[in-house]
Amino acid sequence: MEDRVITGETTEFDEGFEQSLRPQILNQYIGQEKVKDNLSIFIEAAKGRSESLDHVLLYGPPGLGKTTLATVIANEMNVNIRMTSGPAIERPGDLAAVLSSLEPGDVLFIDEIHRLNRAIEEVLYPAMEDFCLDIVVGKGPSARSIRLDLPPFTLIGATTRAGALSAPLRDRFGVPLRLEFYEEEPLTEIVVRSASVFDVSIDREAAVEMAKRSRGTPRIANRLLRRVRDFAQVRGDGKISLDTAQNALEMLQVDDLGLDHIDHKLITGMIEQFRGGPVGIDTIAASIGEESVTIEDVYEPYLLQIGFIQRTPRGRVVTNYAYTHFGYDIPEHNI
Ligand code: ADE
Repeated sequence: MEDRVITGETTEFDEGFEQSLRPQILNQYIGQEKVKDNLSIFIEAAKGRSESLDHVLLYGPPGLGKTTLATVIANEMNVNIRMTSGPAIERPGDLAAVLSSLEPGDVLFIDEIHRLNRAIEEVLYPAMEDFCLDIVVGKGPSARSIRLDLPPFTLIGATTRAGALSAPLRDRFGVPLRLEFYEEEPLTEIVVRSASVFDVSIDREAAVEMAKRSRGTPRIANRLLRRVRDFAQVRGDGKISLDTAQNALEMLQVDDLGLDHIDHKLITGMIEQFRGGPVGIDTIAASIGEESVTIEDVYEPYLLQIGFIQRTPRGRVVTNYAYTHFGYDIPEHNI
């Protein structure tokens, strides 16, 4: 099993590029105001009582900063964070080993927590509720269960699909927080902040343009910034102007709403092969050669958010906005 510890004191935050962009404390974290307001109260209250923070569930589409927020929470609580993920924990013993190595107050971060299997969830319940581990020793008639005490800790679970969590697991999180797509303004701030971390000069209009084309997602904004910076360095004078940003984004095939070639394939496929729907997710996925879960978790949430597709009981339907955006006439049956 793979996991890693980031200690509060030594701040090993230099693990590659992405890390250097990540805010370390709540004050540096841009956007998600409601989530931050709530968290700051719960953190202050827990610290005031010298207790560990209640367990936190972070859910929402990928790239919105769930892992970043988990490290921010650990920093604000002045504790260590241990990071692992649902698929990395293969056996109950893997989880027991991680839990029994925690120090009092530590954060255990489990990414993709919906991918934990049932047997492992069973280990988690008493750990979350009573800070103890029930371990079965021996086999057959002589098997017995022993209870080990754990230090108080905070579990932070992250998932793109809260609905896929079992109800008993979901109910054990005292602080469920839903991350939303970012508006243009906070995304612009993120691009400006990241550019200053990279020490590259950027015009405000260029940052706004990149924010507009980042699908409400900081991870995409930071990825575009790196590519646009390359473009500015090789084709320009190293500075990111609006003109440079627009040219670079065109070369990257990112349209003015931030939709890329897979979004295009998805929507035009639905229009051309299925008359705009209704069509089932598995059928769409097969027709464009993508996995259904990738479409559901990565592409669909933003297309739903901007009103390009709708979910109906009979399947997904393309809306008139999407027909117009992709240059199609609105079909008779939609008028
Ligand atoms: N980089 C990525 N996400 C961020 C956020 N929410 N605030 C500041 N910088 C970020």
